Amino acid sequence: MTLVQAKKLHHFVSLEQYDNHEIMNMIKTAVDFKRQGHFPSYADKYAINCFFEQSTRTHKSFEMAERRMGMQVLDFQPSMSSVKKGESLYDTVLTLQAIGVDLVVIRHSEEAYYTKLIDSEHINCSIVNGGDGAGQHPSQSLLDLMTIYEEYGSFENLEIAIAGDLTHSRVANSNMQILKRLGATIYFTGPQEWYDPSFEEYGTYSSIDKLIDKVDVMMLLRVQHERHTDSDNRFSKNTYLQKYGITFEREARMKQSAIIMHPAPVNRGVEIEDSLVECGRSRIVTQMENGVYARIAIIDSVLKHR
Ligand code: CP
Repeated sequence: MTLVQAKKLHHFVSLEQYDNHEIMNMIKTAVDFKRQGHFPSYADKYAINCFFEQSTRTHKSFEMAERRMGMQVLDFQPSMSSVKKGESLYDTVLTLQAIGVDLVVIRHSEEAYYTKLIDSEHINCSIVNGGDGAGQHPSQSLLDLMTIYEEYGSFENLEIAIAGDLTHSRVANSNMQILKRLGATIYFTGPQEWYDPSFEEYGTYSSIDKLIDKVDVMMLLRVQHERHTDSDNRFSKNTYLQKYGITFEREARMKQSAIIMHPAPVNRGVEIEDSLVECGRSRIVTQMENGVYARIAIIDSVLKHR
């Protein structure tokens, strides 16, 4: 059974679970939370954020979202947990549920780590995916969609380039699927060795110089050194920027209304010139801000479906 068929909406593990209407509702809900500054209250609910991979934005904006909704947030440090004694992720979640946790946000290096959890008849607490290896990063995807929606009010006929380390990026995986489904035209750019032919299902590959003056959104990806093997091409900082990144010259050629996005952390001077991170068309800081509201919408949705 696919996630779409399963409709386990008390978990949030991939945007594939949702139809377009449901996704648009979540985006609009997040935008409303941001505009109104009022959030649903879940003061009787307990959350825990289990990050087995490093994170600043996802971890802390989930925590901010939980606290803005009045939830009780338990601390979890993998290095001080019984995971270090060999306890499995399944047994860790079973334990957290047994002591009264309602919501478990997990980032883990294993792709689709959540399958065993959401398929288990013994796991009733809500599982929220904060990133699974090189698989998916659905909460990042929702905040990216929210940021584009705030700018353009629709995805139909938008031309969007996803640029850079495509094969190692869970952000790219989530975004290419959902943006195409919502009506955008997708292009890919970056080193050809980081482009996989399977992406043709979603868009076409081109050089950044052919795309730069026609796209509405330039969505940069971080070069994920931690996921590279020895066979991956190693670029010097300046070589990457000049061949594949947003230089001053390329930024100047973008359409007046076009925006630059990046999930961050940014390798300044690699994917984009250092000082362009905060330029007028950059929405990189807005994405971080929107992360809190998108995650409030996600938590509200899963808790309502419990
Ligand atoms: N964009 C993102 O996932 O950042 P963190 O790794 O800091 O959470």
